[in-house]
Amino acid sequence: MAKVNINIWNDLESLSAAAAIEFARIANDAIRENGRFTVALSGGSTPVELYKLLSSEEFISKLDWEKIFFFFTDERDVSPASNQSNFKMVNELLFKPLKISKPQIFRWQTEIINAVGIAEQYEKYIRKFFKMPGEGIPSFDLCLLGLGDDGHTASLFPHTKALTETKALAVANIVKKLKVFRLTLTFPVINSAKNIWFLVSGDQKAKMVLNVLEGEYEPEKFPAQAVKPIDGKLSWFMDDPAAHLIKK
Ligand code: 6PG
Repeated sequence: MAKVNINIWNDLESLSAAAAIEFARIANDAIRENGRFTVALSGGSTPVELYKLLSSEEFISKLDWEKIFFFFTDERDVSPASNQSNFKMVNELLFKPLKISKPQIFRWQTEIINAVGIAEQYEKYIRKFFKMPGEGIPSFDLCLLGLGDDGHTASLFPHTKALTETKALAVANIVKKLKVFRLTLTFPVINSAKNIWFLVSGDQKAKMVLNVLEGEYEPEKFPAQAVKPIDGKLSWFMDDPAAHLIKK
């Protein structure tokens, strides 16, 4: 398995500051090399600080934002106007303040009636953007992930069907414990990313961080363990409370 970079900071604020600087570095490298930077953003609360920093005065001038293309690792099956929507959160914190243009944003079209239709549409979006019709797995420059205290990442929850998907890039995943469909990228496309980051903060995640990084390999139980980059680099950005149980 490729090397895993474990980075630990005192708190969420310093974790987010370091992640913002690294985001700018890899984005500029990608734009210099390929003329663009493609990123799949995570939802949840942990990346909020990072998104706020990236749209702050300090970072606006550090990046050629017009060359960055935004996707989402997962989405809830709700309206884009819902407070549950990952798109809404990122739109408020990042897209609106940075005046990101619509053609640069690829959100899950949750206004489509059924979840399977949303996932099929998203897969078409991704394939069209990466010019990969039909077969092949595209590589995002960066895939940002969080970690649930149950071991889920994106919307790949323990013991759910999406964990074993090997072909589709985007699926509707029935999460029985939440009694909902969740929309999520699958491991093949997550693991094809050039850079994969876990951003994890808080004492409530410490036990799961220990399970994922040092426990038995049980990806059905701890789906985050199945995040294994094929050629890319996997980095964990954690604060002390989240990382205090693992061997330093
Ligand atoms: C979501 C996220 C999800 C999240 C984890 C951690 O849609 O909520 O994609 O996978 O990253 O649940 O969430 P927190 O950052 O809020 O702890």
